[in-house]
Amino acid sequence: MITAVYPGSFDPVTNGHLDIMQRSARVFDRVIVAVLNNIDKRCMFTVEERLAMIQKVVGNYDNIEVKSFEGLLVDFLEVEGADVIVKGLRGVADFDYEMQMAHTNMKLSQDIETVLLMTDPCNSYISSSNIKQIVHFGGDIRGLVPDVLLDEIYAKERKNRGI
Ligand code: PNS
Repeated sequence: MITAVYPGSFDPVTNGHLDIMQRSARVFDRVIVAVLNNIDKRCMFTVEERLAMIQKVVGNYDNIEVKSFEGLLVDFLEVEGADVIVKGLRGVADFDYEMQMAHTNMKLSQDIETVLLMTDPCNSYISSSNIKQIVHFGGDIRGLVPDVLLDEIYAKERKNRGI
């Protein structure tokens, strides 16, 4: 029984993230999507909102759970009895960063493996940051995030702007 943790900020969750979650659920017995609760980082959505949004898109998967975590990722894996960190790789630009994180986590815990899943090429340009920017400037994010979240994301942007 292999449990994988897919960590991230998910601010907001994108179709690229969703693809990695779905593929992880096929590869591993149990997948925990772990939302970083980072009080220092300015996020568009609160951690509770991000958890609810992810739950909305993967709630129908029996082997995917959605949780938040604080502190070191390897400590969260230990508490959850998890074996693997799974991350998505969109291209070479992600590689150095992921390699550095994998090596750091390897130093912190010898029991944990990092597995990188290659993003579906149709999602390779999607990031939470560019989605926030498009929404901010009134652009169209259809096809970049799950359809069920579109209204919520636009509503949050209007609320943040006081419109
Ligand atoms: O989606 P992100 O913001 O690139 O995710 C980064 C994340 C959450 C994977 C990373 O920041 C993380 O693991 N934070 C927890 C702190 C930690 O364990 N740091 C040491 C490993 S780099």
